[in-house]
Amino acid sequence: MAGDVKTRRLPPDETGLETAANLLRDGALVAFPTETVYGLGGDATNDLAVAKIFETKGRPHFNPLIVHVGSTEEAQRLSRWSDVAEELARSFWPGALTLILPRSNNCPVSKLASAGLETLALRVPGHDLARTLISRADCPIAAPSANLSGRLSPTSADHVLEHLDGLAAGVIDGGLCSIGVESTVLDLTTDQPVLLRPGGMPLEALSELIGDIGLTGDNAKIKSPGMLARHYAPSTPIRLNATHVNTGEALLGFGATELECTDNLSQTGDLIEAAANLFAMLHELDRAGHQGIAVMPIPESGLGSAINDRLRRASSSD
Ligand code: TXA
Ligand code: MG
Repeated sequence: MAGDVKTRRLPPDETGLETAANLLRDGALVAFPTETVYGLGGDATNDLAVAKIFETKGRPHFNPLIVHVGSTEEAQRLSRWSDVAEELARSFWPGALTLILPRSNNCPVSKLASAGLETLALRVPGHDLARTLISRADCPIAAPSANLSGRLSPTSADHVLEHLDGLAAGVIDGGLCSIGVESTVLDLTTDQPVLLRPGGMPLEALSELIGDIGLTGDNAKIKSPGMLARHYAPSTPIRLNATHVNTGEALLGFGATELECTDNLSQTGDLIEAAANLFAMLHELDRAGHQGIAVMPIPESGLGSAINDRLRRASSSD
């Protein structure tokens, strides 16, 4: 699939890393190797870069993304760390283990990367190139697997280019990934750690260290991470496709309008900008204590379908 960006294949050396780091700092997307699979990276603190990740992958809804950091200290700064996290990080980081933890106060990571959740998925990748890239870019890197939504995860730069040529600004060619399956995702926000996704780090190794681990199947509510129960839902009722405002309601606008908006997802009707603003604005409006939040119609194209999917979930009462 070709887009309007020229995707550069970058060598796994000083020059390549410097170019990639500069692109990331500028808000562009760069695919890079990790020991599990290639990731499609963007500056995790930049709402627009994170929105671009969803746009580029063509994700039908906002699944939260893994935030890659260079060290345990960095993970501690972004999250509310725990003893279990410490134990796991000591034994298994850098490595194929992603930990879900509550976001720290004033966590600089984009709310969109968390899909509006109060939690964060963190991983220190085991691949030297990945960690060097993070330190050169000097920011946490949000990165899902570098494939189009619903397709196989890439384990070489060629795989990445098959999917994302013309869509990402660059790909660092670091050869084949040694593990080849995604990281194991472990939720540490509940009393008992829960396995959300089996992956490159065997479950047995984890339970040998920390004891019993709940399986996703144990809790019918957690069907797929990023689904209903695990998503941020504002406590203020949401009304979609609003063409007028009722008394007591806030109006969340989209595009140019005569209506008086409390806030506007994108004055120019740019869906990437709207996605970047979505969760931050919903949080803000939710906190302001309105009787309801009316949201103007958003087109179903591009990121619009993910925005609408999210808004529909936020507005449904289950
Ligand atoms: O090996 C990997 O994990 C690769 C490399 C690039 O690091 N990344 C990867 O990312 O597979 P992705 O976005 O394809 O998968 C992330 C998984 C999804 O299942 C997502 O729902 C879950 O992690 N996840 C992320 N943040 C979460 C959160 N706050 N709560 C629950 N699940 C979360
Ligand atoms: Mg994936």
